[in-house]
Amino acid sequence: MNYFDHSATTPIHPEVLDLVHSIQKNVFGNPSSIHRLGRKARSLIEISRKQIAKAINSDPTQLIFTSGGTEANNQVLKSFNQSEKNHVVTNPIEHPAILKVLTTISSQKISFGLVPVNEKGRVSVSEIESKIQEKTGLISVMLANNEVGTVQPIKEIVSLAHQNGVRVHTDAVQCLGKMPVDVKDLGVDFLSLSAHKFYGPKGIGVLYFKNKDALSPFMLGGGQESGLRAGTENIAAIAGMGLAAELATDGLGNHITELKSFEAQFKSGLLSFFPNAIFNGDIKNKLPGLVNVSFPGHRSDILLAKLDRSGFFVSSGSACGAGAVKPSPVLSAMGLADEINISTLRFSFGSSNNSEQVESLLSELQTILTD
Ligand SMILES: Cc1ncc(COP(=O)(O)O)c(C=O)c1O
Repeated sequence: MNYFDHSATTPIHPEVLDLVHSIQKNVFGNPSSIHRLGRKARSLIEISRKQIAKAINSDPTQLIFTSGGTEANNQVLKSFNQSEKNHVVTNPIEHPAILKVLTTISSQKISFGLVPVNEKGRVSVSEIESKIQEKTGLISVMLANNEVGTVQPIKEIVSLAHQNGVRVHTDAVQCLGKMPVDVKDLGVDFLSLSAHKFYGPKGIGVLYFKNKDALSPFMLGGGQESGLRAGTENIAAIAGMGLAAELATDGLGNHITELKSFEAQFKSGLLSFFPNAIFNGDIKNKLPGLVNVSFPGHRSDILLAKLDRSGFFVSSGSACGAGAVKPSPVLSAMGLADEINISTLRFSFGSSNNSEQVESLLSELQTILTD
């Protein structure tokens, strides 16, 4: 299959699928039950917690399972809505699971400030500093952006934030398996992950926290997940995520090499017949295998539909509504003019690809672009 949309989601790894199947089939105990069937289910959850802790260099007790990246982000932000220090500093290229939450709950207690990004999609640490107020409790900046792949200077942000008594959350949903994600090295207070971005199951994610006291429960009910996330756990998905995290980090070096090679093949091939292509993002400081490219003179919705018709699956950040294409807010925040913005596609390579598929993609694009 010619799938070049791995930043949207990844196909589940065959070993992970086998594990999920076998758990769904054979393990049905409630992990909160005291008897043997419950203890078996509980042990699978704790194995996964250890695998994820190892993958991101945390302690297993610093992790709770969530329904995905969206919930993990919501939980952090909503915890600060209830805090005395309820001002948040963020930026306009965060995922809607940050921005929409803040714009919605800012009618309650929380307030927030946005720092601009430059033309490469990078935030400036000094701009962040200028936005910190007496009431700032949290800075939320993603580790790498989902549309252009730009990696943010999280360690510098953490150092500045901690000097000012402010905590830092990073949405690292796009990163596991594509770059090292080490919570101790980064120094962050909270970090969000989602299994379906690293060849795990959908609907399961994890929230790392340095200190439990800073978090409020998101779901109320039973006392699962140290009282921070009630509800009977999705054992098969949790176990699948643990294995997926282990496989992603064990294979990190090889996967990065593979992604970089697809990226180089794609970029040089594209430039050979379409020299006007504009590559967006911080080309020197970005996730491997994610290529955001503008095709001046070609509308992205039309390109995407033509590729789709021929069985090539990619994505665009711009949204279609009532026959018109709306520019991507991420690219707008980076200063791209609307006509370039709506001519942009994202190609994200992954382990379902090989170099023959990249060649086929190039030849299909050449046909479409020179039509
Ligand atoms: C950067 C980022 N954050 C959060 C999310 C949401 O994660 P989930 O789909 O697990 O809710 C995504 C998914 O596209 C993402 O790319």
